[in-house]
Amino acid sequence: MTDTTSGRTPIIAANWKMNHDHFVAIQFTQKLSYLLDKKDTDGVEVVLCPPFTDLRSVQTTIDSDRIPVSLGAQHCHFEEQGAFTGEISPAMLAKLTVKYVIVGHSERREIFGETNEMVNAKLKAIWKFNMTPILCVGETLEERESGETDAKVQAQIAAGFDGVAKEQIARTVVAYEPIWAIGTGRNATPEDAEATIGVVRDAIASVAGAEVSEQVRIQYGGSVKPGNIAALMERPGIDGALVGGASLDPDDFARIIRYRS
Ligand code: PGA
Repeated sequence: MTDTTSGRTPIIAANWKMNHDHFVAIQFTQKLSYLLDKKDTDGVEVVLCPPFTDLRSVQTTIDSDRIPVSLGAQHCHFEEQGAFTGEISPAMLAKLTVKYVIVGHSERREIFGETNEMVNAKLKAIWKFNMTPILCVGETLEERESGETDAKVQAQIAAGFDGVAKEQIARTVVAYEPIWAIGTGRNATPEDAEATIGVVRDAIASVAGAEVSEQVRIQYGGSVKPGNIAALMERPGIDGALVGGASLDPDDFARIIRYRS
């Protein structure tokens, strides 16, 4: 099942950030599986993005229990292999049957100096290994207050997708995450989030054409909780959510996945 108005399948992703060791990750995944019925995940794609050290454990739990969720990673390097101490390559993630990789999260951009050029190189590297990037874009509070939101997300989209094939752009997931809403308990109103997502969609159309841009699933991220997910998902322009804090608890995350009931 897909969204009847947009034709795009909703996608709800958990970004655990630097939380949950692999023991906790296994317990979480089993509990989530127990909490969800088939009808909850029918027509909604669910993705878990644990830290690197949990990937193998979560992958085997998903596989052995046939849990209808996909595996995602939070980051990778753009090179295939080599002298990059501490880094993980897209080839390694692909071997673990990772399906999604978050790219350009604001924490990576702001704390670890990830530039638009690096984001672009990662996008291409992730596609090279047939995984799907979740490209994050969004403005700071300062940028928002000085009216620079649209210009910021337009520039991030143009640079991120530069030289990426149209059929890959069409299948990339984009997460619009206003930085002032991440982990703060403040979230954009559904109307505001949808308006900026519209700007993001237009920016994708400028790079790849309207037909491609209509296929791209664009999530909202930033203090998504069980209490606000339904109102966000009611907006036809919002195709899902990238959830940080509220994805750490299996009960909360299951309630977010069940936003339709
Ligand atoms: P949050 O994080 O839900 O805790 O605001 C979202 C994110 O950073 O992806």
